[in-house]
Amino acid sequence: MNAMMEQAIQHVKDAGELVRNKYKELQVEEKGFANYVTNIDMAVQQQLHEVLSALSPNSVFISEENETNDYATKKSRWIVDPIDGTTNLIHGYPHVAISVAYYDEHQRFGIIYNPFNDELFTALSGQGAFVNGERIHVSTNQKLSGSIIGFGLPYDRTKSGATFRMVEKVYETCQDMKRKGPASLDLAYVAAGRIDGYVEKDLKIWDIAAGIVVLEEAGGRVSDWMGRALEEGLYITDIVSTNSHIHDELLAIIRTSENE
Ligand code: IPD
Ligand code: CA
Ligand code: CA
Repeated sequence: MNAMMEQAIQHVKDAGELVRNKYKELQVEEKGFANYVTNIDMAVQQQLHEVLSALSPNSVFISEENETNDYATKKSRWIVDPIDGTTNLIHGYPHVAISVAYYDEHQRFGIIYNPFNDELFTALSGQGAFVNGERIHVSTNQKLSGSIIGFGLPYDRTKSGATFRMVEKVYETCQDMKRKGPASLDLAYVAAGRIDGYVEKDLKIWDIAAGIVVLEEAGGRVSDWMGRALEEGLYITDIVSTNSHIHDELLAIIRTSENE
């Protein structure tokens, strides 16, 4: 691990402490139908903006609650979701994460921290993936029939039909399915072998930037719903992530659901 990543990890843990301390004074605002932002999302973003920008002054700071973002920049960049799982947070459902990625032309790293169970997922390109310092690997399941598949639901309810058709098809073949969220932890759970795959439509760059590094460093595979590699700098994308062994089998079923 390099010095900048070590310092970034400390900053993310400090932001986690802010979440735990401020949680009692939660103020909620609706951004769109069933889509919320809280004073905690804003406070974490502000704190991370200050400390991460100080760590790397020439980097672009892309974050969900910024008014505008330069998604397509090729410069070194932080990609941050200050609170991934705001709906869970509002309900006291303790699956919530601070998700921070750093990408430049030489390296990428991902940090995903759940402040409620103190679980920290980290990965640096070429150096493997870890949870609380212990190496993690994807599961070895070779078949969908022995797999648990996570899925997410889009905020845009006009697009939920495609997700439910996919879930119906996949559920015919797999062992079980889960909708837990947030996206960053779903990816980290595939990386840790707790689930075997995770699928969602319409994810934003900050939902997945850190999770992709963690998953790939744990031996997993990620693509869009057509099986294509994810394009760099894309703001929004559909995602299929797996332990790699079941990827093609899962993709084939997703494609049949898309044709219905
Ligand atoms: C959301 C969560 C959720 C996923 C949504 C995301 P937010 O992020 O990750 O699990 O299903 O697609 O947008 O809005 O809580 O940061
Ligand atoms: Ca998110
Ligand atoms: Ca968020």
